[in-house]
Amino acid sequence: MNAAPENLQSLFDRTFAGISQGLETFTPPFTPREVGTVVSVATGIAKVSGLPGVGFEELVRFPGDVLGIAFNVDEDEIGVVLLGAYQDLHAGDEVERTGRVMDVAVGDELLGRVIDPLGRPLDGNGPVASTRRLPIERPAAAIMDRAPVSVPLQTGLMVIDALIPIGRGQRELILGDRQTGKTAIALDSILNQRGKNVICVYCAIGQRASAVAKVVANLREKGAMDYTVIVVAEGNDAPGLTYITPYAATSIAEYFMEKGRDVLIVYDNLTQHAEAYRELSLLLRRPPGREAFPGDIFYIHSRMLERATHLCKKRGGGSLTALPIIETEAQDISAYIPTNLISITDGQIYLSPSLFELGVLPAVDVGKSVSRVGGEAQWAAYRAVAGDLKLAYAQFEELETFARFGARLDDDTRKIIEHGRRIRACLKQPEFSPVTVPAQITVLLALTANLFDPVPLEKMTDAGRAVREAATTIPAEVSARFETAAKLSDEDKKTVVEIARKALAPFQPKPEAKPENTPEAKETTKVELKPEKKSEAKPDPDGKAKAEGKTDAKPKVESKEKQ
Ligand SMILES: Nc1ncnc2c1ncn2[C@@H]1O[C@H](COP(=O)(O)OP(=O)(O)OP(=O)(O)O)[C@@H](O)[C@H]1O
Ligand SMILES: [Mg+2]
Repeated sequence: MNAAPENLQSLFDRTFAGISQGLETFTPPFTPREVGTVVSVATGIAKVSGLPGVGFEELVRFPGDVLGIAFNVDEDEIGVVLLGAYQDLHAGDEVERTGRVMDVAVGDELLGRVIDPLGRPLDGNGPVASTRRLPIERPAAAIMDRAPVSVPLQTGLMVIDALIPIGRGQRELILGDRQTGKTAIALDSILNQRGKNVICVYCAIGQRASAVAKVVANLREKGAMDYTVIVVAEGNDAPGLTYITPYAATSIAEYFMEKGRDVLIVYDNLTQHAEAYRELSLLLRRPPGREAFPGDIFYIHSRMLERATHLCKKRGGGSLTALPIIETEAQDISAYIPTNLISITDGQIYLSPSLFELGVLPAVDVGKSVSRVGGEAQWAAYRAVAGDLKLAYAQFEELETFARFGARLDDDTRKIIEHGRRIRACLKQPEFSPVTVPAQITVLLALTANLFDPVPLEKMTDAGRAVREAATTIPAEVSARFETAAKLSDEDKKTVVEIARKALAPFQPKPEAKPENTPEAKETTKVELKPEKKSEAKPDPDGKAKAEGKTDAKPKVESKEKQ
């Protein structure tokens, strides 16, 4: 009877001792929560007071899980760029620090997905099952971690692969007026990476939703989504969201690059990005500069494009090739943003609306386009013919304006023009039909061997197709040598040229009329010939017309500017 209370007593003692011991060791899990107050909300930005500890570019959280980035950090007020629906925010709302910077989900799970820069799915296929995240702003690779650009990135577009080659790790700007085929070039480049072990990231910035839907549909239909990630900020998204999109896309691409993969990223387009940033800066009352852009507009693009590189072996040897797109107005490539981007990148592909109207597609103006590092990376088989081709094409472009004024042209000039027209015809290419390397080499060798010259212009499309189809009959051991750094032997060249010659046989105008070494069949030339040789006196009146096409041409120096 006595034992029971004692037991009870000791049980109580033990329990209370345990409790007091627990109390002693317990430290309440207080997490300091810094909270500020919204002072004002405007389109895409908010002014907040009372967050003294907030860091530059720190993420802050508003009610309704709207996120923002601290952009202007002043002593008593911070300017926040809003990244979501800000319609329900009010002055007086609570703002909370998060203590971290903006980051984005990365990983293999993203392949085939269409997401916004916050990682939310836009394709209706459920949440993105990625566990890794990377900050959207990351330092670019150090100089010692970089390797020279040495491997070509084939776009499948002959005019680019032959004349303005792009290397893996290069940054090549695509610029041109509205509706000149800029997106088409980028898409063709993505489609051509099929089976080439290259990951692609297409970053749509501030475009019309219908244009983005078209791109997604095209990529899906052509089977490119298996190796592609699409990051989208639509035209009606908050300017803050538009602003962070290319950085988020770059981090997604960098993840693959750091795993040793080759990655291609397309920014479509950075004009919209610059405009979104200008909008934010003006709203935040930062001082406007040229064309009302803020002073750091160059820096926001250069720090993004510097992240494109070819990593050295020690860092895995991956590469990130960037194709930023810029829209020009009235063909003005010397406007502020285009010149900024031209100086940041390693070359540019200029698309001319006049060529587009003439039906020369892709409308690449070779005279104003250049690749400053790609030449080093180009396969030797291309390099052997590219020089001659460029020269012949440049001469043709200069003389073409002459020919337009009709009149007197001597035999040599006429030959150059006729040859140039055939080069142009061979470089034409419809959308979504990449040309394989053997087919490209065969056409280029046939061009440099003047095999196309006797073919009437109106038959050039069929002739080109016949040669490309004939390229499939090239012996495998020969075509294997096209994609190596070794020069093509004379014998290989002969084999290829013979195949092209056979393919072109049905397109010769009148086989019985003349032997094959007088190619200029008269019916192909429409220019009137006169014996008088006064062409030297001509240049002056034409000077203007020529200048129009040429003044801004970047010198085609193949200098190594990029590490
Ligand atoms: N090589 C080509 N062959 C035939 N059509 C083409 C070719 N390239 C582009 N196009 C057509 O030209 C039009 C404009 O192309 P695209 O949308 O790529 O131009 P853009 O410069 O990106 O336009 P935007 O300024 O609106 O972004 C499209 O209808 C496209 O189908
Ligand atoms: Mg476009």
